[in-house]
Amino acid sequence: MGLLIKGGEIVTADGRSYSDIYVENETVSDIGRDLQIPIGTEVIDATGKLIFPGFIDPHVHIHLPFMATFAKDTHATASKAGLIGGTTTFIEMCCPSRNDDALEGYRIWKQKAEGNSACDYAFHMAVTRYDANAEAQLREIVRDGTASFKVFLAYKNFFGVTDEELFHILKLAAELGVITTAHCENAELVGQLQQLLLAEGKTGPEWHEPSRPEAVEAEGTSRFATFLEQTGAAGYVVHLSCAPAMRAAVEAKLRGVRLYVESVLPHFLLDKTYAERAGVEGMKHVMSPPLRDKRNQSVLWGALEAGLIDTVGTDHCPFDTEQKLLGAEAFTQIPNGIPGIEDRVNLMYTYGVKRGMLNIHRFVDALSTRPAKLFGLFPRKGTIAAGSDADLVVYDTEYRGTISAATQHTNNDYNGFEDFAIEGRPSVVTVRGKVQARDGVFVGEPGRGRMLRREPQYGAREVAHGG
Ligand code: URP
Ligand code: ZN
Ligand code: ZN
Repeated sequence: MGLLIKGGEIVTADGRSYSDIYVENETVSDIGRDLQIPIGTEVIDATGKLIFPGFIDPHVHIHLPFMATFAKDTHATASKAGLIGGTTTFIEMCCPSRNDDALEGYRIWKQKAEGNSACDYAFHMAVTRYDANAEAQLREIVRDGTASFKVFLAYKNFFGVTDEELFHILKLAAELGVITTAHCENAELVGQLQQLLLAEGKTGPEWHEPSRPEAVEAEGTSRFATFLEQTGAAGYVVHLSCAPAMRAAVEAKLRGVRLYVESVLPHFLLDKTYAERAGVEGMKHVMSPPLRDKRNQSVLWGALEAGLIDTVGTDHCPFDTEQKLLGAEAFTQIPNGIPGIEDRVNLMYTYGVKRGMLNIHRFVDALSTRPAKLFGLFPRKGTIAAGSDADLVVYDTEYRGTISAATQHTNNDYNGFEDFAIEGRPSVVTVRGKVQARDGVFVGEPGRGRMLRREPQYGAREVAHGG
């Protein structure tokens, strides 16, 4: 049976129009006024509402063995939470550790998602060790449709890679035409600063930020850009948090380096005073790169509006209170991460679009269209057009509410954005034409999500060495 969404205003990255949308066989079949539709078509009245393309979260952690524990969500819980918040596709970091077999890790992540995710999904494959075996396995993983890598310049001896490995990973990425996403912090400096602080008896969560200062992130960003430049690969900085790192990224862009930038929800709205709160309240706000001095936020908003920050993800990474307390004796043991998959769209709409910080088309671009384009999902995802998947968000701009752990769907006992007001939320959310969420409730088919296979799309750039 077809589905007609009637009377709403479609808003995409490049335009807006009052049109109806007719959906058949999982895709948008027709867009216009007074469409001729078959008898028996289900009709959704979207009068007074906006209709956005399904939002794509380009950076989430769901299955994540990390810092002596596991992130709390399952693919079922995270995807339902995401759908309620308007996210119809996520790209998960597949993160086996340096001691694990890459291909075996990839199989585990795929198995956990398959049949459990209620929305569509893809993976970035983390390369946490590079040798001949890993190279052969990565070629196989790319052939399977996972056309993006992830590297960590932080987390030495666990996820982190050496500069030598980074060089070879990027050479392979350039050859295969895949983009490499990167966590850019200098692992050695972080480790040394952590030891200095602990030796001075500075053990609380408020010392997490000083152990990873802005300069450490700027160095990582600049180094990553230099490696891209020298290998001809395309790259994407994840969760950029501060002005010095932004400057390093912009300098690289101006040199013509193919470098794209993501920032994530917490860095736009939370600052380091949250991690300076006493005890576990501070620990709840420990993530890396850390929450920064508030002055960085206007830089991030400005860069986002200007398109210098390409995308906004969440870095969704839920550890509950008990897990955060693993770091009660030393901030270096606090599991890093803040959840956000459920709240990204509503918070960016409220504090970006409604507060005049972000043009509505740039909002759609950064949270849907550009992730789709950068990661090989466009035009199947990221827009509303005939032939695209019918992933649609009918958005109620009149809704007023408050973020609270008590009402969230993410599997966690706190919410880092507790008490933030929201001015808007999804009223109807469809995945390939099926209504999966309505007004804050999951109403759909669990396990409906499919893995999205992607083609490499980044031809290697020529690099002039010497001369
Ligand atoms: O603190 C964070 N960001 N936790 C998740 C792992 C990562 O670095 O992305
Ligand atoms: Zn990271
Ligand atoms: Zn992450």
